[in-house]
Amino acid sequence: MAYRLKKMKNGAWCVHDTAYGETMHPGGGPWMEANRLYVDGGRLPALLAGGGGGRGAGEVVVFDVGLGAAANALAAVKCHQDRLRGGMAVPPMRLVSFENEPSCAEFAMEEAAALKYPVGYEEVLDQLLERGRVELPGKLRWELRLGDFTRLVAEEPARADLIFFDPFSPASNPEMWSLSSLEGLYRCRRPGGETRLVTYSSAFGVRAGLLAAGFFVGEGPRFGERGSTTLAATALSGLDAPLTPAWLARWRKDSQPWPPMTPPEQRPGLRKKLLEHPQWGSAGTSAASPQGKEAPRKRNRRRKRGGR
Ligand SMILES: C[S@@+](CC[C@H](N)C(=O)[O-])C[C@H]1O[C@@H](n2cnc3c(N)ncnc32)[C@H](O)[C@@H]1O
Repeated sequence: MAYRLKKMKNGAWCVHDTAYGETMHPGGGPWMEANRLYVDGGRLPALLAGGGGGRGAGEVVVFDVGLGAAANALAAVKCHQDRLRGGMAVPPMRLVSFENEPSCAEFAMEEAAALKYPVGYEEVLDQLLERGRVELPGKLRWELRLGDFTRLVAEEPARADLIFFDPFSPASNPEMWSLSSLEGLYRCRRPGGETRLVTYSSAFGVRAGLLAAGFFVGEGPRFGERGSTTLAATALSGLDAPLTPAWLARWRKDSQPWPPMTPPEQRPGLRKKLLEHPQWGSAGTSAASPQGKEAPRKRNRRRKRGGR
């Protein structure tokens, strides 16, 4: 694996993965995106204040899917530590990072001076990579699941309150966005609680996969150079701006409506799940074409490969 630093228009340095040909956190740099999209968008501060999902002071579990250069994970660590340092009550937190290529986190440590956000956390990251876990003050446990996420998620025993879902794009990292991967995440929801998932992608196929997996789906925060992003939740009340049947009507016309890797024979079943999803009330099926057939698809020329 090979990485290099890339400077964004706003002066922030990002990590570019030359094997995937993609830059991490291109919406405004790693620290802005980690905090605005994942930490704030996922309402981690409210969860730590005991306001999220009505969970009181129990352990808060955060899944960090795609540790990469560790910006999202360190933003969660810092959110927890800031509360602790500020003398606020803070529940124990368990951060579970998934990654199959730890060399990116090593690169982030080497380039800490340019990236800035890893400064002061080099030893913590080092321990995480060496031992697979590290404990920090305030009962913060950070664990690393090393290997292929699509397999690991099927066996994962932890139950998440919040999921940072940050693989590479659906076009270059399709297995991560497949229906079985998203269903695996849905299985890891907190029983009797409310689980939220945040991701940068707003592609029709990704949102369709999240809905079919069982989540309710809505718009996530807009910031920096990101257009729309996605917030999913296990309850409609967990969303700020739920998708409406108007989205469903647009989905029908999109050129790439299916989650990556969906075989043709699974499409009718998936379509049915989507149209009958409780998010639409009774309005879902009326957004379908007459006789339940799909309308001819128009090519969406503005959409780049796979959409992000
Ligand atoms: C966009 S980067 C993540 C950036 C990271 N969240 C951060 O804050 O720096 C995507 C990461 O997903 C990892 N990844 C891709 N496919 C994977 C798989 N099948 N299993 C586990 N990790 C995977 C890549 O190695 C890469 O580090």
